[in-house]
This record gives sequence, C-alpha cells and structure tokens, in this order.
Amino acid sequence: MVANEARLWSSLGTMNGSVKKAVIPAAGLGTRFLPATKTVPKEMLPIVDKPIILYNIEECIRAGIEDVILVAGRGKSAIEDFFDTSYEVEDVLLKAGKTELLERVQSVKDKINIISIRQKEAKGLGHAVYIAQPVIGDEPFAVLLGDEIMIETEECKSAIGDLVDLTQKNGKSTVAVMPVEKADVSKYGIIECTEKSENLWEVSAVVEKPSLESAPSQLALPGRYVFGPEILSALRDTKPGKNGEIQLTDAMTQVAKSEGLLATVLKSRRFDAGDKFGYLQANIEMGLENAEVKEKLQHYLKQLASTL
Ligand code: G1P
Repeated sequence: MVANEARLWSSLGTMNGSVKKAVIPAAGLGTRFLPATKTVPKEMLPIVDKPIILYNIEECIRAGIEDVILVAGRGKSAIEDFFDTSYEVEDVLLKAGKTELLERVQSVKDKINIISIRQKEAKGLGHAVYIAQPVIGDEPFAVLLGDEIMIETEECKSAIGDLVDLTQKNGKSTVAVMPVEKADVSKYGIIECTEKSENLWEVSAVVEKPSLESAPSQLALPGRYVFGPEILSALRDTKPGKNGEIQLTDAMTQVAKSEGLLATVLKSRRFDAGDKFGYLQANIEMGLENAEVKEKLQHYLKQLASTL
C-alpha cells in the first residue's frame, strides 16, 4: 500500500471506516426552471409530493451519513425551514388525526443533521465544496449534486452508499460515472481512465464539459462523489477553469495524479431533475409508483398516448 493510500485508510480508520458527512451544493440560481424558481429554490420543486432535496437526503440516510452540509446561496432559506419543525402544520395534522401524514412530515429531521453554510459568491462547484472545509475537517466525505435523483432499487440501495463502500474497500476516493451518448459529452465532466477490474476504473484525468473531439471517453460524472480530505487541499490551489469557475473536476485531476482516484458505473435508477424533460420523466415515473395516483395516471397516460 502506498503512503497516500495508507493516509486515507488511517483517516477512515479513525472513524471506524465510515463516511459520516456529505456536502450538497445548493447555491445555483435554477435558471432552467424560471419563472418557477424566482422565489422557490429548485431543490424544493416537488417530484410527486416530495421536494427534490428530500430524495438526496434519504439517499444519504440509507448510506449511514449523519451530517449533511448544505452549501446554499441567497434565497434558499425554504430548504432550511423544510428540515426544521413546522409547528403550525404539525399541529393542524395532529388535531385532524392525520397521523400518517404527520409522521411523513416529521420523519427525516431526527435522522440527520442539516448544517447550512452560505456561499457568498457563485464561484463554481469546486468553491462550493471547498467552503464546507471547516465542517468537514480532515475526514473523507461525500458530495451529492442535488439535480440528480438516485432512486433506491434492489440492486442499489443508495448510490452514495455504494461509493462509500468502494472507498472503504479500496482506500481511494471514488466517484460515480455513467456512459453517455456522444452528443451529451459536452454537458458533463468526463473521465480519462483505464479499467482496473470489472467496473472499477483508475482515473488519470477529468475534463469539464469537453467538446466531442477532445473528450477522453464517454464516461460522464452524474454528481456522486466520495473524496478523501486531499481534495480540499487540491481545491485550495485550484485556479478558475472552464467558464471562469473553480471546477471540482480540475481538483479531481490533481487527486487522480497524486493520491489516485477510482470510478465506477452505478447500478442506480437515476433522473436528471435539473433538466425540464428529466424533471417531467421523474414526476411521471414516480407518479406511476405512487399508491394514491398510479391507477388514474396509468389510465390517463394510455388515453393520452392513443391521441398522439
Ligand atoms: C456539474 C459538474 C459536472 C457534472 C455535472 C453533473 O455541472 O461540473 O462535472 O458532470 O454537474 O450534473 P453542471 O451541470 O452543474 O453545469
């Protein structure tokens, strides 16, 4: 085992081999969903009856994560309020005897701590992760990009949980990748890699939103990462890159070259809820699984399809 791996192992060892903290950057302006996101944070837009952010938080809970660090910008206080007690709503539900709904409203807040940090300037994803450093300290941690929703399946209970397991097993930072069409490589961070073992890739560099000609592969980052603390030192020294922003992918290239970085294709069910089409897909598919509306929705979709 090389010295750097040993260091990550020892930092994992001091916390019984588990990753307890996750960063969720939530400072984006949500311009793709304007005007809806003029006053409502995009993280609070509902998929059926749950806000997008709650899917991310539940994925963290299933991975055994205890503290979520929300890196939010201005106008995002509705997210903090969501994870707080809502006396008025809870009192109304209690008095109306709606105990099941009351339990749903209360369920998350005791299972996880939400720590909120303000990103005062929009300097990029890398900057958003870096400013969580005082809370992360010197521990491995997870990063989840909220636009992407990962739904629990039999094969994959928690997308971030699978990465936590692989990080612990291999002693290296590990990120999720997914194969994308050629037309889509310029929308994502793309990895340059060699296959180490079945579905485990050794990353040598990461390129932020490359053109098709310069893309090193078609394996894209869907926004799930587990890093050792060395990513924070790399971020500290990262200069603004693509679009003048401090890019997480640039710091990842540094880590790939020093400590090493692994990637794996997740078996999770995923929706890109940051995109209008992906958001609608998520609502339809999750609606078809919602006991209250599934039959009506099925019937409606069949009828609608026959008219198209
Ligand atoms: C960000 C990251 C990119 C990643 C993508 C996943 O880009 O910079 O590397 O592939 O999220 O959604 P954004 O979509 O925020 O521009």
